[in-house]
Amino acid sequence: MPKLKTVLVTGGAGYIGSHCVVDLLQAGHEVVAIDNFANAVGDEEGSPALRRAETITGKNITFYKADVLDKAQIMKIFDRHSIDCVIHFAALKAVGESMQQPLLYYQNNLLGMLNLLEVMRSHNCYQMVFSSSCTVYGEPEYLPITETHPTGKITNVYGRTKYFIEEMLKDLSAADEKWNIISLRYFNPVGAHPSGMIGEDPTKEFTNLMPFMAQVALGKKPVLTVFGSDYNTPDGTGVRDYIHVMDLASGHVAALNLLSNNHIRLKVYNLGTGKGVSVKELVNVFEKVTNTKIPLKYVERRLGDITAMWADATLAKEELGWTTRYSVEEMCTDFWRWQTMNPDGYPKKSKTSVIVNGKS
Ligand SMILES: NC(=O)c1ccc[n+]([C@@H]2O[C@H](COP(=O)([O-])OP(=O)(O)OC[C@H]3O[C@@H](n4cnc5c(N)ncnc54)[C@H](O)[C@@H]3O)[C@@H](O)[C@H]2O)c1
Repeated sequence: MPKLKTVLVTGGAGYIGSHCVVDLLQAGHEVVAIDNFANAVGDEEGSPALRRAETITGKNITFYKADVLDKAQIMKIFDRHSIDCVIHFAALKAVGESMQQPLLYYQNNLLGMLNLLEVMRSHNCYQMVFSSSCTVYGEPEYLPITETHPTGKITNVYGRTKYFIEEMLKDLSAADEKWNIISLRYFNPVGAHPSGMIGEDPTKEFTNLMPFMAQVALGKKPVLTVFGSDYNTPDGTGVRDYIHVMDLASGHVAALNLLSNNHIRLKVYNLGTGKGVSVKELVNVFEKVTNTKIPLKYVERRLGDITAMWADATLAKEELGWTTRYSVEEMCTDFWRWQTMNPDGYPKKSKTSVIVNGKS
């Protein structure tokens, strides 16, 4: 039986965080979530995504509007709750923005992590699951990518923040054996909870393929811009390993179980399906399952974009006992359900039932 835990979820109101909270609650864990709403809908009164996560699961979430850069605030949360493990999603993630505002990204992502680790250590909490990314691999030297593939040759600031944090975690776990950390390198998360109640609704400008495609299908944007049609791939468009966000969520519960039962100090796992899908293929599936037509506009490749990348997810299967369950069709169907049930995303002003700042 997995041991049940009180888990602090940073960035819990965000896309992946809110889906992961559903799985954590369903697995029986207690969730304390924080977010500063840098890229999620919500306010002092709480997060509509987390309110809906409560409705889906019939369980309560304790929520704090808090910033991981505010160490004193994080300290107070640890004083108040006996946190067993942290799942650290909170980060800024827009590649383009990271190139224009590198200091913002280094401050938010690196300093946020440093604060968190220091507060954790001061409260004898040494278990963490960290949201890393396949961007740490840079241009692949071979495919599918295993966890032993070299890292560090990264072409953007956002990716470098993930790489630097992984290096920091290596130093930390080497210096102090109490730490027990898993870094999960996500491939390309898409889709939404099958209920259609929660999904992706960023407040910053976004360029992610699926939300953009859905906006085109809804008629909110005229055309889907495809960057590069002359890549060395079967149809000329870039190839990625798209993974359903609920598969990603279950990967975190599996990671938590491993940390509960083993002292591994620091391990890294890829979370992907192991299959590459081109932009064109994804658009075709999306059009088919949603019965829509997506007009495409092909433009030049973006600087730093990678031709093809997909995961070897064998290690996660063998050591976490985790595999993906959702097909590309389900990724598209579930995202479309979320998008059509919530064409404008979450209600921008809503009273939530989550426990906010420790009070109902
Ligand atoms: N979505 C992807 O394609 C992808 C791929 C690989 C890795 N990741 C990583 O996974 C994590 C979650 O990504 P996501 O797609 O859910 O993004 P997201 O932007 O939806 O979620 C991140 C959340 O963190 C919050 N946040 C940011 N800075 C904060 C701070 N200083 N204090 C408190 N909260 C803060 C944001 O408001 C947001 O709600 C991130 O670390 C991201 O880098 C995402």
